[in-house]
Amino acid sequence: MVITGLLPPQVAACESLEDHPEFVPHQAEAASLRSSAGGRRREFANGRYCAHRALELLGAPAASIPAGERGAPSWPRSVVGSITHCRGYTAAAVARRGEIVALGIDAEPHLPLDAEVLEFVAGLEERALVAELLVRRPEVRWDRLLFSAKESVYKAWFPATGLFLGFLQACVRFDPSAGTFRADVPDAVRAGARLPGGTRLPVRFTGRWRVSGDVLVTAVAVPATEAETTPAAGLAVPASPEGERE
Ligand SMILES: CC(C)(COP(=O)(O)OP(=O)(O)OC[C@H]1O[C@@H](n2cnc3c(N)ncnc32)[C@H](O)[C@@H]1OP(=O)(O)O)[C@@H](O)C(=O)NCCC(=O)NCCS
Repeated sequence: MVITGLLPPQVAACESLEDHPEFVPHQAEAASLRSSAGGRRREFANGRYCAHRALELLGAPAASIPAGERGAPSWPRSVVGSITHCRGYTAAAVARRGEIVALGIDAEPHLPLDAEVLEFVAGLEERALVAELLVRRPEVRWDRLLFSAKESVYKAWFPATGLFLGFLQACVRFDPSAGTFRADVPDAVRAGARLPGGTRLPVRFTGRWRVSGDVLVTAVAVPATEAETTPAAGLAVPASPEGERE
């Protein structure tokens, strides 16, 4: 499984390359779909299928996973987790909250990203890095990878903090050979992002990525040991940069 190789051993994950028409989401889960069309229902069901399987692999009790705030999955209290789906690929990953405090995974088609989207999601430095890597290592779509890495960071960040994170509020850099990336979130942004017990997410998120066939997958996991226990200084959280999608 691609996803397992990107995550620490405390994380249980399920990955699927096919649809699961036999799987019926719990009533509480399907409630969020309302008038959604067939494609959306299918991807949602595939995601919930993997999520239930991942909980089982973790040894956690079976539970409904309805959509929560801003669409984030509402996991059992003792669990952190993340879901992703793109054409032909679905995955879910979960861990015990006492071991992992933030977890995000994302899959994208391994295709070029629209130039306009890249401009929207990447800062100047990131765009220069992507341009250079596309010349030096053209076998990887670094533009799409940057986007996916940021989606993974957001999926880890939002459930842990309850705060939106704009695309330009995190700066991503890759280690092309190691298959890793890091995302720096400025101190002023993360200062407002307290975890229960007064701990803070680290200033630097580390993640892993891999291209497998026509899909690229990224993952970020923050072990409890990396969350800072020093109380934050209480700095204000800057608003999302103008024009950012909220
Ligand atoms: C929410 C978002 C991250 C989803 O990513 P995506 O690539 O479009 O879609 P994916 O299939 O990979 O993931 C969708 C799943 O993410 C999960 N998700 C949705 N909103 C979420 C949130 N606020 N927090 C965490 N997970 C969320 C859900 O499980 C969803 O699947 P489901 O609705 O079937 O349960 C994206 O649409 C978004 O809004 N991004 C804006 C913010 C951002 O990325 N900032 C970058 C900061 S560096």
